Amino acid sequence: MPKLNVNVDHVATLRQARREKEPDPVFAAYLAELAGASGIVVHLREDRRHIQERDLKLLRETIKTKLNLEMAPTEEMVKIAISVKPDMVTLVPEKRQEITTEGGLDVVGNIDNLTRIVSTLKENALFVSLFIDPDLEQVQASKRVGADMVEIHTGRYAEATSEAQRQAELRKIKEAVATSLKIGIRVAAGHGLNYSNVKDIARIQGIEELNIGYSIVARAVIVGMERAVREMLALCKLPEE
Ligand code: PXP
Repeated sequence: MPKLNVNVDHVATLRQARREKEPDPVFAAYLAELAGASGIVVHLREDRRHIQERDLKLLRETIKTKLNLEMAPTEEMVKIAISVKPDMVTLVPEKRQEITTEGGLDVVGNIDNLTRIVSTLKENALFVSLFIDPDLEQVQASKRVGADMVEIHTGRYAEATSEAQRQAELRKIKEAVATSLKIGIRVAAGHGLNYSNVKDIARIQGIEELNIGYSIVARAVIVGMERAVREMLALCKLPEE
């Protein structure tokens, strides 16, 4: 069974909707660990739309499992990673207007820049993963730039609109996993995984860890609603009622 790393970005999305102090992604990370998560993932975006540097620093101090920092391959983010020292860094492409990460990194087209960034991170004792589409050329290029791990983008599999398309995407993911392992790169997977589509991915031999965020946070809001309402009603009740 792969390890489960929980991405708590969208707990911060909810907090930032009101610029309040809660819900706190640091507390959510604590509860995710208590429930058995093997790691916590956060994406510090350049526009700071959800996770803030304060969250990253507190998570570094408080989590007991493993901190995976997702970030764009930029000088600013490299500096932050070197100072915070997460247990691993996952480099992801980032566009300001996108709602969420839209695709994998183009490692093939950015060999020089990524070689430089990966080597700077590794010189600072950071373990580096690259978020890539299930494409064999991107896997080979990830090896060339010195990545320790690839995270295979499962978004297209998750969004498949027919069984044939789903199976085709699953085949691509399996091939990318097999090729990565053959050339000596460790493998994670994630994006768009949820309670209906995770099983087939979790069964692929060789995927060490899954990074899942949105579906877990969305479910937590729903399964926690009844208790939250009961607690509020109990507070509203007068002693004689
Ligand atoms: N992996 C990477 C590289 C991501 O950018 C994200 C989204 O932040 C995830 C996994 C988690 O995706 P989701 O929120 O759809 O589970």
